[in-house]
Amino acid sequence: MFPLWGLGFAWLIFALTTNSEPAVGANATSRKDCNRKDCNGIQYDIREAVCCENKLHPGVSIFCCGKEPYNPGTATCCKIRHGHSTTAVTQGLSENVSKCCDLKAYNPVNEICCQSTIVAKPGPMAECCGKEAYDKDKQLCCGPTESKMILMRNSSHHQCCGHNQYDTESQCCCSNEESVEIQSKDSSCCFKDFGVSAAPLCGNTTFNIHTHLCCQSTVVTKSSPQHRCCDKGTYDMEKELCCGPINDKKILKRNSTDHQCCYHDQFNTKTECCCWKKESAEVQLKNSSCCSEESAVFEGQSKSKVDNQVCCDGCASVQKPWINQCYGDTPYGLAQRGVLCCNNILYENRDDGEECSETGIPYNPAKGTICCSQFHGSPGKHCCGTEIYHPDAEICCNGHRHSKSKNIHCCGIKAYNIKDPQMKCCAGTLYNLTLLDEHGQDAQCCGSLLQKQQDICCSSEDREVLYSAKTGFRCCGHLYFNTTLWSCCAERLRSIHEPGQDQRKMSNESRLQSVNNMNKTDLCKKMRIGTVESVSLHSIVFKSVLKIRGKKAKVKALPFPYILKTDDRCSSPKLIPGKTYFFNKVNVFTDSNHDTVLQSLHFIFSKCSP
Ligand SMILES: *[C@@H]1O[C@H](CO)[C@@H](O)[C@H](O)[C@H]1NC(C)=O
Ligand SMILES: *[C@@H]1O[C@H](CO)[C@@H](O)[C@H](O)[C@H]1NC(C)=O
Ligand SMILES: *[C@@H]1O[C@H](CO)[C@@H](O)[C@H](O)[C@H]1NC(C)=O
Ligand SMILES: *[C@@H]1O[C@H](CO)[C@@H](O)[C@H](O)[C@H]1NC(C)=O
Ligand SMILES: *[C@@H]1O[C@H](CO)[C@@H](O)[C@H](O)[C@H]1NC(C)=O
Ligand SMILES: *[C@@H]1O[C@H](CO)[C@@H](O)[C@H](O)[C@H]1NC(C)=O
Ligand SMILES: *[C@@H]1O[C@H](CO)[C@@H](O)[C@H](O)[C@H]1NC(C)=O
Ligand SMILES: *[C@@H]1O[C@H](CO)[C@@H](O)[C@H](O)[C@H]1NC(C)=O
Ligand SMILES: *[C@@H]1O[C@H](CO)[C@@H](O)[C@H](O)[C@H]1NC(C)=O
Ligand SMILES: *[C@@H]1O[C@H](CO)[C@@H](O)[C@H](O)[C@H]1NC(C)=O
Repeated sequence: MFPLWGLGFAWLIFALTTNSEPAVGANATSRKDCNRKDCNGIQYDIREAVCCENKLHPGVSIFCCGKEPYNPGTATCCKIRHGHSTTAVTQGLSENVSKCCDLKAYNPVNEICCQSTIVAKPGPMAECCGKEAYDKDKQLCCGPTESKMILMRNSSHHQCCGHNQYDTESQCCCSNEESVEIQSKDSSCCFKDFGVSAAPLCGNTTFNIHTHLCCQSTVVTKSSPQHRCCDKGTYDMEKELCCGPINDKKILKRNSTDHQCCYHDQFNTKTECCCWKKESAEVQLKNSSCCSEESAVFEGQSKSKVDNQVCCDGCASVQKPWINQCYGDTPYGLAQRGVLCCNNILYENRDDGEECSETGIPYNPAKGTICCSQFHGSPGKHCCGTEIYHPDAEICCNGHRHSKSKNIHCCGIKAYNIKDPQMKCCAGTLYNLTLLDEHGQDAQCCGSLLQKQQDICCSSEDREVLYSAKTGFRCCGHLYFNTTLWSCCAERLRSIHEPGQDQRKMSNESRLQSVNNMNKTDLCKKMRIGTVESVSLHSIVFKSVLKIRGKKAKVKALPFPYILKTDDRCSSPKLIPGKTYFFNKVNVFTDSNHDTVLQSLHFIFSKCSP
């Protein structure tokens, strides 16, 4: 679950080193502190571990799901709120491509959540019919909310009438006080409905406005005059509430007339408020900070300056005109001796020559060096994270020191020998392949994860997502789809309406390859790098193309424009004009381990040099 779990966990955690004292006046928790945080008294680097409810869990790209750690690249955290909130982790499906069905995650490309149950989509246009899913193209979901039924649709001009379907071209659906029935178009009942030109239409069915409601183009029985639509169903507006966003509404028993909706819950408007968080909302007591924040917005603090007066919190008259800043409720002057203001914090009685460090701590550069709020007693040094480092003997990888040696490069915060075939760097996460079984030796990267034999990696320009391989499934960009539902062209899903349609149109997988998955032989061969100018059906135009030969460390400029022919646009990955890619005759590659082309070239030449 967590790669290389247990490997040197001890060194992930470091206590404050004894030979460095915390800087004077430093408030470590209130500042940007070079990715260091505190977990129940232990200092850790947020890129190496996560703290969930006061417990530290090692791992890269790990987040908290309640008190459980999880990697959103391989798992999803689902939350539900019923008074208190509950969370659960579903392994094997990245949060970036999943949705939650209560506490379980599913792939919305191929599945649908109907009344808290995950079901396989029977067709690309699947919708819920009660607890089951139906294919809107071929089926109908008929009947009142409480007893819906799925029917095979006789034709596209068939519609629901109660629990049955009728042919809109030759029949009508007559609604009486209590029931509905299908009649031929020339019957008196149909005449009544159609004859009155003002007969209301619902979708393309007429309905009796006194006995029925039209909810999202579906005719539903109106059980009482108080009933109103709630998505496709109805609710009693006196006794119930219909809460939530459109198409995800829930019917709640209304506790009292003082109760109103708060996302999927209700709240008492007399004692509670509804606090909006990013995508949902939470009920809180009226005296909670969230409720009072909403009203506090209108009571901004005033800070103004009049002649010889400074108003910080109440106005004070001042003799010295340069006293014109506020620190809380105290006026002060920037030119005041011994006073320093770093990141809006006032420091008094400072020595001459002190300055604000990058992290906003006052220090004297002649007396020492500040590395991420850590003061070190030797001046003029280079910093690596919180520590001083010696660039002639060490390298600094994202704030972590490593001793220097030949062919050593950074991978995230770690360092490795790029010529060591056992070490693999996947988008900043380092893996030791020795620890894997015999199949692991040619393991490939999928984003920052290592792909196992039973996994499949689907990638698009901005994402690489790992899936458990399934037969009958393929990649479409970073999505993984069921080929009985969809086909894919140029990273776009298309619905398959009829099974067994032209199979040739079903494109082969399109995958943007990654430079870090090339073996040394391929990497050091001739390769090209260029910026995409435009893409057409059969070719890609590149500009600023360089031909590089890793083995000989040679670079040659090729004339503009450079045209790369492609056989089948459906099966080629989507490329973004203006972006730079590596390519050879077969594939186009990105380099997720390096931020700039210069870094990529430096890596290739270092790796290929004899
Ligand atoms: C440090 O910051 C915290 C949080 O902002 C604050 O509560 C605390 O009073 C500060 N401590 C000092 C010594 O400034
Ligand atoms: C998820 O998607 C976001 C962009 O929407 C991206 O920044 C992030 O890296 C992705 N995470 C994974 C694990 O792929
Ligand atoms: C793929 O979709 C078809 C059609 O809905 C379904 O019958 C099948 O079970 C799906 N395959 C998997 C593995 O879910
Ligand atoms: C739908 O088709 C079935 C079988 O073909 C037939 O028995 C039924 O009468 C049709 N229903 C309507 C309303 O056309
Ligand atoms: C009836 O509705 C269906 C779908 O709601 C639509 O496809 C069809 O064109 C409509 N027919 C008429 C005659 O409006
Ligand atoms: C509504 O009533 C139920 C049952 O009496 C209670 O559990 C719930 O807390 C109430 N909700 C609100 C928001 O008052
Ligand atoms: C909010 O009010 C409730 C009772 O109305 C009280 O029990 C609770 O302590 C209060 N909370 C705060 C933060 O004042
Ligand atoms: C990789 O793991 C093996 C086996 O544990 C170990 O001998 C080797 O030193 C590791 N390599 C690196 C570079 O850490
Ligand atoms: C898919 O791949 C197969 C075998 O690699 C090839 O024969 C076929 O032509 C490809 N189809 C398309 C649409 O590219
Ligand atoms: C490198 O990968 C290519 C396919 O991309 C393969 O044909 C070749 O045998 C590999 N070379 C080595 C040394 O593994």
